Amino acid sequence: MLNTIGVIGLGVMGGNLALNMADKGEHVGVYNYTSDLTDQLMEKLEGQTIRPFYNIEAFVQSLEKPRKIFLMVTAGRAIDEVIASLTPFLEEGDIIMDGGNSHYEDTERRYDELQGKGIRYLGIGISGGADGARTGPSIMPGGDREAYEQVASILTKIAAQVDGTPCCAYMGPRGAGHFVKMVHNGIEYADMQLITEAYTFLKDRLGLSVEDIADIFESWNQGELKSYLIEITADILRKKDDVTGLPLIDVILDKAGQKGTGKWTSIQAIDHGIPNSIITESLFARYLSSLKEERMNAETILSLPEIELQELDKEVWIEHIRQALYMGKICAYAQGFTQYKMTSEQYGWNLPLKDIALIFRGGCIIRAEFLNIISEAYEENYSLTNLLISPYFAEKTKEYQRNMRKVVCEGIQSGLSFPSLGASLTYYDSYRTGTSNASMIQAQRDYFGAHTYERNDIEGSFHTNWQE
Ligand code: 6PG
Repeated sequence: MLNTIGVIGLGVMGGNLALNMADKGEHVGVYNYTSDLTDQLMEKLEGQTIRPFYNIEAFVQSLEKPRKIFLMVTAGRAIDEVIASLTPFLEEGDIIMDGGNSHYEDTERRYDELQGKGIRYLGIGISGGADGARTGPSIMPGGDREAYEQVASILTKIAAQVDGTPCCAYMGPRGAGHFVKMVHNGIEYADMQLITEAYTFLKDRLGLSVEDIADIFESWNQGELKSYLIEITADILRKKDDVTGLPLIDVILDKAGQKGTGKWTSIQAIDHGIPNSIITESLFARYLSSLKEERMNAETILSLPEIELQELDKEVWIEHIRQALYMGKICAYAQGFTQYKMTSEQYGWNLPLKDIALIFRGGCIIRAEFLNIISEAYEENYSLTNLLISPYFAEKTKEYQRNMRKVVCEGIQSGLSFPSLGASLTYYDSYRTGTSNASMIQAQRDYFGAHTYERNDIEGSFHTNWQE
């Protein structure tokens, strides 16, 4: 019996995906560059049909045609090396799927190279971490449409399921799948930063204990903020350190890492004229946090002015913060989905915005209740220019903005760092301002560079000798 699918790369994600595929009835061939991971996976089997191979040619020959090969190797050169080791044994019509966090432009290069050899390529975003890979991730496939149709039955059954619907749908041509995953991660950065800023206000301005804040996040997770990131934040705050017995959060060094997908999201937005300030501020917050030694020194030099902080009513402000967090989340997702929409138009991808929201409802790191509302917004208006002006979010932000302004103003007045809550409110106010003061920018550019300007009353391009 030939194998129905092959997996190369048996790290945590690859191994768990292979087990997930086998659980769903697939006959899985597995191969890893080093045999240790292959052997470790085989020790985990509980009756799944998984066959190990220690030679890539034998691995390829074990697969039914057209061969379906899932790569779960580290993004970058390793993918190219694995593809190069595979292609001598592949035939026209075989399918290679890259499930790593590859940059979508790398995916497009590989797609073009392989299409030229008759080999079909899919760049597949996978979100949900190790648990997701094992029990059901959100899956964002893009690339050769025919190839997708041939693997769809496998991808949809290993994906997370929400209301009987798989969190997997075809995203679009070439690099579209990895692009959708990249922006998913950008939104993830914003979501995580907004939660951190809400936590900051609760802890540093209201003076609440870690245990009390855990209870607050747990209660928020019962309402409109219900989401994986809110849920794990409550868990994180309850975790005690084995060494000191203190809340573990209090002994973790405050230097945030990043592997690059959020950075790519910001670079792509800047390259394509797309405002994604909240995602980018969240990335910069991670960079600034890494300057730990500088911040320790600056703290001895720079300080707040002497101000008397008022005693705040905790119950009232906890609700203010909840509203501020939800409104920040709305603004961040509005930016993320605008990046989908504007890029889709620029590339001619026709990204399915409604389906993107639907497949984000389960399995992925940003899975959240309110993605149902986002998908409904695109269901009602396919060409919606920005989520902020959809009826539900327009109404919600109109209702919540008052308390968000209170939280941002009080936080900044108290010297708290609010890069993403601040960016969210500024984005909201900038986007809803029909007549702005960008005219001053135009006047300055024309003054010193004669770059000309347009008028708001007469057609044409103008320059003024400002010093006459
Ligand atoms: C996911 C995650 C995952 C990401 C890690 C690390 O969707 O499963 O987003 O793809 O690589 O979370 O990301 P950073 O190191 O960039 O925070």
